[in-house]
Amino acid sequence: MNLLSRAAAAAGRRWSLAFARARFAKARFGRACDVRRRLTLRQYPGGQVAFGERCVLDNDLTIECWGRLRVGDRVIFGHHCTLAARESILIGDDSMLAEMVSIRDHDHAFDDPTRPYREQGVVCAPVRIGRNVWLGAKVTVLKGITIGDNSVVGANAVVTRDLPANCLAAGVPARVLRAIGPG
Ligand SMILES: CC(C)(COP(=O)(O)OP(=O)(O)OC[C@H]1O[C@@H](n2cnc3c(N)ncnc32)[C@H](O)[C@@H]1OP(=O)(O)O)[C@@H](O)C(=O)NCCC(=O)NCCS
Repeated sequence: MNLLSRAAAAAGRRWSLAFARARFAKARFGRACDVRRRLTLRQYPGGQVAFGERCVLDNDLTIECWGRLRVGDRVIFGHHCTLAARESILIGDDSMLAEMVSIRDHDHAFDDPTRPYREQGVVCAPVRIGRNVWLGAKVTVLKGITIGDNSVVGANAVVTRDLPANCLAAGVPARVLRAIGPG
């Protein structure tokens, strides 16, 4: 990339960020966030959405927030990720979410089969993703999950139980395969 096209790309990023801030005035986008095309952000009354500095929000990110979504600095979202926070989703600094990752902090209640599930409300539990976590493509994180710092989750996993720090996990349901680093 030559100097001119780099300057044009940087100007484009600044413009996209300004546009996102204007369009989603109730959300907070930190300095130098790279907000790409077709961000959908449904922020309901009382919902709080905050991204730290230098995050990358690739195309077609969808966010629904009734509660709290807090994203640290330098977090990367691949294209077509979904974040749905009724209560709380926290994502630590330097984490990377590959394409089509889905994180939700709630399920529909389904105790009574005689009534439509859509009328039975939701069951919520907060999700916490640590710092420097890498979630591979199409990982799904369910309600109430904590993933510790520096952990990696392989592609297509469904995370149904907490994962400790510094581990590699994969599968459906996600299981720890090994520790990462000296140990
Ligand atoms: C998990 C991953 C990082 C590989 O880590 P690794 O340390 O090289 O692991 P290995 O390839 O040695 O595999 C270790 C074991 O886990 C299994 N495994 C690896 N990835 C898996 C996955 N996604 N789901 C289920 N099992 C998986 C392997 O089959 C192997 O099992 P075995 O010991 O019974 O043979 C990689 O497989 C992966 O899923 N990468 C994500 C790619 C991606 O989404 N990229 C998006 C761009 S950001």
